[in-house]
Amino acid sequence: MKQVLITGASSGIGEQLAGDYARQGWQVYACGRNSDKLQALHKAQDNIVPLVFDVTDTQQVHQAASEITGQLDLLLLNAGNCEYIDNPMQFDAALFERIIKVNLVAIGYCLEALLPKIKSGGQLGIVSSSAAYLPFPRATAYGSAKAGVSYLAKTLAIELKPHNIAVSLISPGFVKTPLTDKNDFDMPMQVSTEYASNAIIAGLAKRRSEIHFPYFFTMILKLLAALPAPIWRAIAQKMQTSTQSQP
Ligand SMILES: NC(=O)c1ccc[n+]([C@@H]2O[C@H](COP(=O)([O-])OP(=O)(O)OC[C@H]3O[C@@H](n4cnc5c(N)ncnc54)[C@H](OP(=O)(O)O)[C@@H]3O)[C@@H](O)[C@H]2O)c1
Repeated sequence: MKQVLITGASSGIGEQLAGDYARQGWQVYACGRNSDKLQALHKAQDNIVPLVFDVTDTQQVHQAASEITGQLDLLLLNAGNCEYIDNPMQFDAALFERIIKVNLVAIGYCLEALLPKIKSGGQLGIVSSSAAYLPFPRATAYGSAKAGVSYLAKTLAIELKPHNIAVSLISPGFVKTPLTDKNDFDMPMQVSTEYASNAIIAGLAKRRSEIHFPYFFTMILKLLAALPAPIWRAIAQKMQTSTQSQP
């Protein structure tokens, strides 16, 4: 039985991935802080094993790693959170630290504890965001964290190749989850968690170094990112003005 460990499996994209891998016959270590939610996943599919820990607590991460038996075919680092800095003139450093910690620093904790658990020939998938392609107003903390995550994944893809571990950088567009349900702005080309999970599982099966979706949306962002910086700055300035005019 193949083994996958998924962080952030109690909700949204990670929950869908956990269910889909379990239905395909994998043993799934489903991680998160919400024990009730993870136990419910286990009740529904007994090849889902709950692992309750906070990814921002390095001791808890190491304790969880010690509970894994055997070696992982796939480690999927997906846990994350989003909060916005609405007013850069009243920069919220605590929010900035929180968001960098859960999205970026915690990946370091997970790599330290869990990378040695991946078998030779195995895979590492890291969930970043297409927000990392361009600077978006209010995404000061989230975008900075995800830009770091993308850099990290691309570097590890080079460094882990000699260790026979394939690394995939996963950059979703908008996916309908509790995380995006909090957003107060239009989210173009938003897809379902089923769509996201299918795209991620298919990309990982092909050991793609980069998985991004929905394709049309992410290609537009990539194109905008390739244009001279003043063009995007002008567009983003308008976005900022329209956001500020919202109630
Ligand atoms: N939804 C989108 O449009 C979108 C787009 C691009 C990228 N992403 C990325 O995709 C990933 C999943 O997002 P989602 O939309 O599925 O969000 P979600 O539904 O809010 O799920 C977030 C998951 O992360 C876990 N998590 C958060 N903080 C944690 C902590 N301190 N320790 C352990 N687990 C923690 C949560 O589990 P507990 O609450 O149980 O701890 C939950 O399972 C994130 O990295 C997000 O940045 C999402």
